[in-house]
Amino acid sequence: MSFPPSFLDEIRGRVSVSDICGKRVKLIRRGREFVGLSPFNQERTPSFTVNDEKGFYHCFSSGKHGDVFSFVMETEGLSFPEAVQMLAAEAGVAVPEQTPQDRVREARRASLHDVTEAACAWFEGQLRTARGAEGLTYLQGRGLDDAAIEHFRLGYAPDGRIMADALKKQGLDEALLLEAGLLRRPDDGRAPYPFFRQRVIFPITDRRGRVIAFGGRILGDGAAKYINSPDTPLFDKGRTLYNLANARQAAHDTGELLVTEGYMDVIALSRAGFAAAVAPLGTALTEDQIKELWKLTAEPVLCFDGDGAGQRAAHRAAERALPLLQPGRSLRFAYLPKGEDPDSLVRGAGAAAMRRVIDGARPLVELIWDMETAGRAVDTPERRAEMEMRIRARIGQVADRTVRQYYEEMLRERLNGLLRPRRGPGMAGKSRGMMVRVETAPRNNLASLVAVGERRRRQALLATLVNHPALLDQFDEAVGRVDLDPELDKIRREIHVFLAVAADLDSECLKRHLSETVGVGLLAELLGRNVLLHAGFARPGASLEEAQAGVRDLLASMQRKGRSRELLEEGRQADAEGTADGEARFLRYRSEVERAESEIAELED
Ligand code: UTP
Ligand code: MN
Repeated sequence: MSFPPSFLDEIRGRVSVSDICGKRVKLIRRGREFVGLSPFNQERTPSFTVNDEKGFYHCFSSGKHGDVFSFVMETEGLSFPEAVQMLAAEAGVAVPEQTPQDRVREARRASLHDVTEAACAWFEGQLRTARGAEGLTYLQGRGLDDAAIEHFRLGYAPDGRIMADALKKQGLDEALLLEAGLLRRPDDGRAPYPFFRQRVIFPITDRRGRVIAFGGRILGDGAAKYINSPDTPLFDKGRTLYNLANARQAAHDTGELLVTEGYMDVIALSRAGFAAAVAPLGTALTEDQIKELWKLTAEPVLCFDGDGAGQRAAHRAAERALPLLQPGRSLRFAYLPKGEDPDSLVRGAGAAAMRRVIDGARPLVELIWDMETAGRAVDTPERRAEMEMRIRARIGQVADRTVRQYYEEMLRERLNGLLRPRRGPGMAGKSRGMMVRVETAPRNNLASLVAVGERRRRQALLATLVNHPALLDQFDEAVGRVDLDPELDKIRREIHVFLAVAADLDSECLKRHLSETVGVGLLAELLGRNVLLHAGFARPGASLEEAQAGVRDLLASMQRKGRSRELLEEGRQADAEGTADGEARFLRYRSEVERAESEIAELED
């Protein structure tokens, strides 16, 4: 839809940029301009400026620049025509119709909107009547209170044709009710009949929050658990996301957006504090939906069940997204524990458990890697070549050149890593000459002395958990607070994922998961001799009590290590003073740190 320039200018003339921006940004006048905190970035010093005379804003922190239309598009996630509609309403200017056909179509859509809105209100009302009592009980039984029911405008469609009669009595045209998908004409020529009967109703809105369709759920178990309105002039299932209107704002504010499978998941998440949640409508994510998600946030998190079906759905979404990737635009994949969906998880284990699942989400590139390599042998040249071809074919689907190049680079690195001969846990000592050496700590270098010891201790901590996953529940949180280098952090994250997803906490399963996700190399190092030598409790053979005590000691010593690092810093400062006193203190600090580290340093030699 294109608008005449004069019409756009008229809107620009009637609403000021500072009025529109001022709704979202607290603006302070400074000379001819206004300034405020950027709505696009987190900042403490205002870098967002508005100039009403020139009719534009400029954000120095993000480089974004534009007029009222682009501001509304950026901050509300609207398309240009939608922004124009919204601002035209704001300005009290009528949007010009293009052609007579357009006018008819617009009028038709407007009447359909009236119909869906009226139906929504009627369904809502039914929930509060004797006829809808069953529906209300059902929703309450699923943990929803009045506030949630009102917020999501849930309703009830009673049995029989009462809805048709009631809405017609309100003056709504039967033809429109048919077109809105609320009535269905039976094949045998009988009178049109309500589409939704004996179901609780979930209204589906467009991105501006106008009701365009409905989902209906039966009250118990059974076939056709959910049905959705058919596609109508208002409703295109493949382009619509449930709860988008609410999620838009929240996604903009938090930068996070969750995508789940169902209505109830979205509602439960929203109530648990994850307001930026949407769901496709009973189908796999479409291209249009993925693009829609990217309008709201750079890396939406797709939540899948931890079972085979969830895995397949994730792969489908990954395949669909691959050709669409853009610089900065991707997907992340989170897996729920087996048998859980977001609804059951937040209601059972709570929001913190959901947070853990989200934080454990994996990037798309890792999923692609898994898809093409999991369970495949690379022990012969032919098999390696085949895997390389598979990966190359897959990456070839990425349309954006820059993104594709980085995919090629990253997956090639991984492939090389996979193919490089590994140092087995038992041969560490002998083959040192051939392999990349583990840095040993020069005794006089305090910093590296501390660093190597710290890494060993952290490896021992993770190794104990890998060999004794029964301890995960107890220590997961404390381990989550430990400072880790990127490699170990990756292992920890995958352990988190495993904890969230695994049916039972089995060491072999966890090792398999880690070898697939962080790679055999890192895992071998973690469970290798260098680590286990000075941490007997980390070995698989240690008793659970031993392992538990070991983890507890390690965590405590890490707190002390914080102290050792402080000492190190103080030592550095003392040394820098260049005075005799400074020197004496430096020596004291050094012997203290050395004592703490000596045991590890010995093992290194
Ligand atoms: P699920 O079967 O996973 O159900 O369907 P759910 O969301 O957990 O629903 P509850 O908790 O039993 O109420 C996921 C989504 O797939 C669509 C719906 O959109 C549903 O929310 N679906 C499911 C259908 O369209 N039709 C069906 O018969 C079942
Ligand atoms: Mn469910």
